[in-house]
Amino acid sequence: QALAMTEGDRFNFTELRWGNDQTHHIADGFDADVLIRWGDPIMADSPEFDVMNQTAEAQAKQFGYNNDYVGFAEIEPGRGMLCVNHEYTNEEVMFPGIGRQDRSGFEQMTKELVDIEMAAHGGSVFEIVRGEDGKWSVNRDNPNNRRITAETPITFSGPAAGHDRLKTSADPTGMNVLGTINNCAGGMTPWGTYLMAEENFHGYFWTDTLDAEGDPDLSAQPEAASMERYGVPGRWYAWGKFHDRFNIDKEPNEPNRFGYIVEVDPMNPDATPIKHTALGRFRHEGAETTVASDGRLVIYSGDDNRFDYQYKWVSAEAVTDENSVFGSSLLSEGTLYVARFNDDGTIDWLPLVHGEGPLTAENGFESQADIAIDTRLAADLLGATPMDRPEDAQPRGDGTAYIMLTNNSRRTPEQVDAANPRPESNFGHIIEIKEEGGNHSATTGTWSILVKCGDPSIAEVGAQWHPETSEHGWFGSPDNCAIDADGRLWISTDQGSNWAKTGKSDGLYSLETEGELRGHSKLFFRCPVGGELCGPYFTDDAETLFLAVQHPGTDGTKDLVGFAKDSTFEDPATRWPDFDPAMPPRPSVVVVTKQGGGKIAV
Ligand code: FEO
Ligand code: CA
Ligand code: CA
Ligand code: CA
Repeated sequence: QALAMTEGDRFNFTELRWGNDQTHHIADGFDADVLIRWGDPIMADSPEFDVMNQTAEAQAKQFGYNNDYVGFAEIEPGRGMLCVNHEYTNEEVMFPGIGRQDRSGFEQMTKELVDIEMAAHGGSVFEIVRGEDGKWSVNRDNPNNRRITAETPITFSGPAAGHDRLKTSADPTGMNVLGTINNCAGGMTPWGTYLMAEENFHGYFWTDTLDAEGDPDLSAQPEAASMERYGVPGRWYAWGKFHDRFNIDKEPNEPNRFGYIVEVDPMNPDATPIKHTALGRFRHEGAETTVASDGRLVIYSGDDNRFDYQYKWVSAEAVTDENSVFGSSLLSEGTLYVARFNDDGTIDWLPLVHGEGPLTAENGFESQADIAIDTRLAADLLGATPMDRPEDAQPRGDGTAYIMLTNNSRRTPEQVDAANPRPESNFGHIIEIKEEGGNHSATTGTWSILVKCGDPSIAEVGAQWHPETSEHGWFGSPDNCAIDADGRLWISTDQGSNWAKTGKSDGLYSLETEGELRGHSKLFFRCPVGGELCGPYFTDDAETLFLAVQHPGTDGTKDLVGFAKDSTFEDPATRWPDFDPAMPPRPSVVVVTKQGGGKIAV
């Protein structure tokens, strides 16, 4: 039957049907065009992509892998710099002849392949322009186009900059690190610089020191407690076999140099990016910014790990024209807070300040630098609320913020609390925060649950949606989100291995937050099989929406009937978006516009 609009719906589109196939789909009346794919050249002198003969040198000038965050720094209407994170790599679908690697051995991985992976990480910054026909394209000739990789020189700001715990044999100053890794979500500052969040950095570190079970033996590591709390070394990649700095046996301080928010100036390729240590070290999911009603800069950032915390940064000073610059003190002078979600529906933001409460030398925190490096350990002492994997967090100008709690299969019935109400949560939930006085810099406020995700037709799931949400509109595992120019909330999903539990592909959903329809969700876009959806990002005029389809052909496919059981380069579950028998699936950025022009779904 035809799908109809719901009365009072603030989102003007007819819902897309749920499904799962080899290509992407958008609601009727909109276009979803591929803008750029893994390997596409982004600079005037970038070589064309040659997937059978890829090199690290070529990759360092081409669009990287697994596009996640998308931001846009407008130069003038219809022209600006697109800023895209490249979170991680999937060697089994990137390289011919390489199957899914045994994470303890990586027998097939060579230094050449590892170096390509390192060059495929980080971010891309490049100009895009909108043509007469309303379609966007890449301008390779802008001299400011650049790649950030796992080997780009980066400096530090804030309390840990230059600290002994950041010093390595290659960098006796503790001020110069090579590269940024696992850049998941991010943000744009009010002054147009690009923030990249370093998330699962622990996975890149290696050790050859194993115990009898074959697990890392940290007993000889002086910082074992810190490493343990951060999951270092994760040994997800073979990098440490070929690069000593990723081997903690040789460089035990290198992990202390990752897990930060990185600022990039998209207008100046010569500006060295900065890791802002004042914003703390954890598995930063994102870094969405806002200006509080008292004028200060506020950044929300979750620590995406089961039972980890939601954080918020508040600058010391108000935002002014003078401090609205790359490398601003607004990102180094201020207070980092961690959230305690009280069962009575109030929230307390607890300051992570040296000398206050338990954050003293007696408890192992010699100075603010130790809090910046061991943020998780400090937050543990303050009694923050362990959450169901805080993913993206999105502030709105009115003092509201939305927190995506993606899932947590390991929460037991005994560990349930009001803010994390379901044991074995496979589908996650979304929390709405209302900061005191509508001011994002407030240290108190209230919270409520906007939706509990999952299939509302299965009672045991315990989902909570507006009752008119259709079989197409409910979703699981919220990950990224955006608020458009009209204050409306959009959610993208990343089900990962939970894909087979819903049978639905990941996608983009509109979600009502106000009035009668609060909690009503509709499907707007869906991914090709095995891809998760990142972005989303709206231009200021609300006429363009950027989406990023990450790792098409991988997540969950081995559990789904009708698709390649274990995607490989030679036998992928899809060859989206090229559908060329010589090309594996490629992570790509998609641009959504309304047919005939105008704001998206208003
Ligand atoms: Fe990279 Fe938390 O998703
Ligand atoms: Ca994410
Ligand atoms: Ca976001
Ligand atoms: Ca994700």
